[in-house]
Amino acid sequence: MQRGKQAFGLGAALNQRLVAVFALPREAFAEGDSTTNPVNRQTMGLGLYHLKIKLQDRYLIPIMRRHRKLADLYYFLFSSEFSREHQKVMHGRYRHVRARALNQPNAFHLRREVHRIEKGLVMRKRRPVFATDYIHDVVHNYRLFREKPEAGEGDAELMHWTRDVLTDYFSKVDSSHPAVAQSKAEFDRINAEPQRNPATNGQLGLAWDDRTWSPYSRAEAAASRIDYPDFLALARRRRSVRWFLDKPVPRELIEQAVAAAALSPSACNRQPFRFHAYDRAELKDKIGSIPMGIRGIYDNVPVFVVVVGKLSAYLSERDRHVMYIDGGLASMAFLFAVETLGLAAFPINWPDIEELEQKMERAMDLEEDERPMMLIGMGYPEDAGGIPFSQKKPVSELLRFN
Ligand SMILES: Cc1cc2nc3c(=O)[nH]c(=O)nc-3n(C[C@H](O)[C@H](O)[C@H](O)COP(=O)(O)O)c2cc1C
Repeated sequence: MQRGKQAFGLGAALNQRLVAVFALPREAFAEGDSTTNPVNRQTMGLGLYHLKIKLQDRYLIPIMRRHRKLADLYYFLFSSEFSREHQKVMHGRYRHVRARALNQPNAFHLRREVHRIEKGLVMRKRRPVFATDYIHDVVHNYRLFREKPEAGEGDAELMHWTRDVLTDYFSKVDSSHPAVAQSKAEFDRINAEPQRNPATNGQLGLAWDDRTWSPYSRAEAAASRIDYPDFLALARRRRSVRWFLDKPVPRELIEQAVAAAALSPSACNRQPFRFHAYDRAELKDKIGSIPMGIRGIYDNVPVFVVVVGKLSAYLSERDRHVMYIDGGLASMAFLFAVETLGLAAFPINWPDIEELEQKMERAMDLEEDERPMMLIGMGYPEDAGGIPFSQKKPVSELLRFN
């Protein structure tokens, strides 16, 4: 026992030493450019940084990359680059599971399951009964939200959608199945209590929002007048603009851009992102001064939007990257919308750097399962402001068939 403890102590001490030298992030050493972290730059010299990189790149990585377990060992002993991500993913999983264990509503889970039901409903060869293994869970979550509508990231529109999809489901599946019959009885009991209808977000276009919020046919979908040449023109015009007029951006325009971004696809419709806009001078500058990639220009930018992802949207580690994809898709829609509103914008990188992330967490008062995914700077463009050409790859390089 004692020996085991000693060995563990020795191992921990060795690991601490190794990590102290090898695992310091790149920016702890480098100096002189905008990618440096001023806090660590002062503590370590450039020579030690070069030695670390040399050892890692020349000797350790070529060998340790060859076997999964060696790679694990490398990131245990010599690099802490992934440690923050590990912990954040754990926070997310913990919160997701805890909410369910404590019988709290979970909007991400509900969205995912309602989405699964909708997919079952639109199957060409719909099965007479499906979702029997989770319908009870969906109805239960629905009840929890009805009781505590403000909890767990829920909203009235989510309730509306859930109610309409479940109504559709129960009208179409074989209600003689015991799991269905039981859940239907519970669903009817819940709906016997009055519920106010939500204000709609205009998701389907005006006339549409009076209909039930359940599967519909493509033929019924609202038309769009944008054709390919128009869309291509918008894509050509949308470029990263970094110089702006000193003119406030009306909040309604930011809301309109977010309304368009909200319509973006997301895995299982979880929508694990939030757009946090900063337009008050002092706070805006505080946020803008944190990312590395805009050190020389942030005070010229009228609005910063931080796109935040929520890891508790996921039950499993395998989904840990999904929020970045969802956040990226929504951000692209936001950028296009901004352009149509007479504004301009540019994306801003958010690399995984401990000190900066901590700074941002404090400035934004983020929860432990939340992470910034990227930032967007926006405003009214200055006509004379230069825009890098940024050559794009030709289609022949981007596209492969079969
Ligand atoms: C994820 C991401 C991070 C970016 N980070 C920065 C940044 O930190 N600073 C900056 O000035 N531009 C940043 N950009 C803008 C890119 O430099 C720009 O999109 C690219 O050069 C292509 O130019 P375009 O947007 O005009 O097509 C970023 C873009 C993306 C997508």
